[in-house]
Amino acid sequence: MFKQRRRFVNFLLCFMVCLFISITINGIVKDGSTDEGWKHIAKEDGVIPVVIMKNYVFEQQNITIKAGETVRWLNLEGSHTTTSGTSCTPDGVWNSGYLQVGQTYDVTFDTPGTYSYYCTPHCAMGMTGTVTVLESAANNPKPDIQINGYDSDVTITPQDEANVTIYLDAGDKYGQNVDYWVLAKTPNGWYHMAAKGNWFPTYGVSAQGQLSGFDWFTVLQKSGLPLGTYEFYFGVDTNMNGIKDEELFYDSIALTVSESAISGKDLFQNNCSRCHGTDASGLKGPNIQGKTKEDIDRAIATVPPMNTLSVLTDEERQAIADYLSTFVK
Ligand code: HEC
Repeated sequence: MFKQRRRFVNFLLCFMVCLFISITINGIVKDGSTDEGWKHIAKEDGVIPVVIMKNYVFEQQNITIKAGETVRWLNLEGSHTTTSGTSCTPDGVWNSGYLQVGQTYDVTFDTPGTYSYYCTPHCAMGMTGTVTVLESAANNPKPDIQINGYDSDVTITPQDEANVTIYLDAGDKYGQNVDYWVLAKTPNGWYHMAAKGNWFPTYGVSAQGQLSGFDWFTVLQKSGLPLGTYEFYFGVDTNMNGIKDEELFYDSIALTVSESAISGKDLFQNNCSRCHGTDASGLKGPNIQGKTKEDIDRAIATVPPMNTLSVLTDEERQAIADYLSTFVK
């Protein structure tokens, strides 16, 4: 780990010199890039496969897992064993002994191969099974990005500080040449954090070099962010060419800055999207991207199908307006 960090020290230093984003509100040339293809990495669910022992058979008689995973035997009837070996002869890899109804027995398999087993008293009746253990899944890079210590989307007021931090577990691809991406999709378009230690108002690669893990560090610490919704991305791809490639590992998180610290996005999706579309571009009602609080007040007062929305408070209407202002046109 120490060695890994040393190798990464240049990249890290560059990042840490300038922690502060400098968002220029006007005159930003927007990049045409979309966020298509940027998705959260699926998280491991940690479900243990279960073999049921019942009526003199193993259900899921032949089970396949990956190295490092665990199989659980669960006895639902009678008294049975799971005992490794072939031809009703134990080979000593595991033996549960007699399990009573409701009891379980777990075995973790670290070495690929096929393992045969049987039930000691019922082997002759054909109560046998196999566990096939495949090579473990690649230990891929695991980037992580958080805001104020949260992994899921965060809403703050402009007075609150946003502290965006990143972490990287390099995994098996350690040392491979990669592109690093630290991106923010802001109300004013894309920004990327560049290796020279600053945020630039364009979409682009942040750094290039050998893949190396590092501990949590801050990439943005700032209060007074302009109202709107921000999406932050942190990822690596394994082809060092400055282009986001197919083999991409990344994490993302959204930040909403709203006067009310109420999620305007949630309010919009719950109250407005069924008529105005999930991106406010129009469905049964008109496109309302970029509409202001005053427009909303007027519409609620005058559009008959919207009058049930008069229950929305000023704060909530403002939060929706802040959200509508985030659509980059
Ligand atoms: C039941 C359907 C429906 C829902 C729900 C609804 N709207 Fe509308 N909205 C409409 C229709 C239809 C119009 C156009 C009315 C017209 O042009 O006469 C409209 C018009 C508007 C306008 C005026 C557009 C303009 O050009 O100025 C705004 C702003 C607006 N809606 C905002 C919202 C917001 C914000 C919500 C959620 C809080 C919402 N609407 C929920 C149907 C709906």
